[in-house]
Amino acid sequence: MSYRIAIGNNKGGTGKTTTTVQLAAGLCQQGKRVLVVDMDPQANASRRLGFRFQESDPVPTISEAIKADSKGIAADAITAIGWETPYRDFIDLIPSRFDLENRISEAAVLGAISRLRKALDGADDRYDFTLIDCPPSLGHLTQLALAAVDAVVCTLEPEYDAVEAAVRTRDFIDAQAAELKNPGLTVIGYIVNRVRTSLGAHDFQLEGLPDLFGDRVWVHLAERTAVKDAADAAVPLAEIKSQSAREQAAAYRELAARLIKEAGR
Ligand SMILES: Nc1ncnc2c1ncn2[C@@H]1O[C@H](COP(=O)(O)OP(=O)(O)OP(=O)(O)O)[C@@H](O)[C@H]1O
Ligand SMILES: [Mg+2]
Repeated sequence: MSYRIAIGNNKGGTGKTTTTVQLAAGLCQQGKRVLVVDMDPQANASRRLGFRFQESDPVPTISEAIKADSKGIAADAITAIGWETPYRDFIDLIPSRFDLENRISEAAVLGAISRLRKALDGADDRYDFTLIDCPPSLGHLTQLALAAVDAVVCTLEPEYDAVEAAVRTRDFIDAQAAELKNPGLTVIGYIVNRVRTSLGAHDFQLEGLPDLFGDRVWVHLAERTAVKDAADAAVPLAEIKSQSAREQAAAYRELAARLIKEAGR
């Protein structure tokens, strides 16, 4: 059985997609098989992994898999990523497209909340990890992910609004886990992204994090141009030839090792 993780925060731009994609790369480098599920209609994870939806040659995406409401149906939407070997041998993708927005209106349908879990059950057994990239909301699309996973990882920046949103995300999960038919679901790790140590305001926020999240703050990742370059070029960090890219790739490998340990895989 795959260990499923939702990567979320109720604030945009905190690095959810970056973490999903580069953590998948880090897990691959440790020989783990990863399925990335893009649950954001923006489809950023899909693009950054080298996938483009073509209206002229449509393939099933996560939107169709959820709509179908059938056990294991997500297997039909699994596709290879555009990255080179070895990544494409270890990482697969269930892509997204804007049509995923249309699943929100189905939220009130009886049993709708379990549709992603149902679609994935039996479809992701051959992977070690399933990483679900969430949109920056706590609405239906994120709730579908929360109902399907073993644990949540929250990304934040050392900025007031992002920290508040991380607290909101944690409290929402604590309060709604049972309602989402996933009692016991918790945020197992907080990834602090885009840290600028030269900024006093960041230092101030970083100091307060242990009080809020204890030893679940897994890592501080620096703000680095290489991260943006990798995202724009739709490649793993290891493809960017700079010292800072190498350092950041190493940080994601460490993060992957931490996840493997926490998940007991
Ligand atoms: N450590 C970093 N250093 C520099 N740029 C970064 C870093 N992390 C993320 N970025 C950039 O910041 C932007 C937002 O990151 P990302 O898309 O991962 O956030 P997100 O939480 O998925 O956003 P959304 O809420 O829109 O889905 C992207 O352009 C990304 O390349
Ligand atoms: Mg994103």
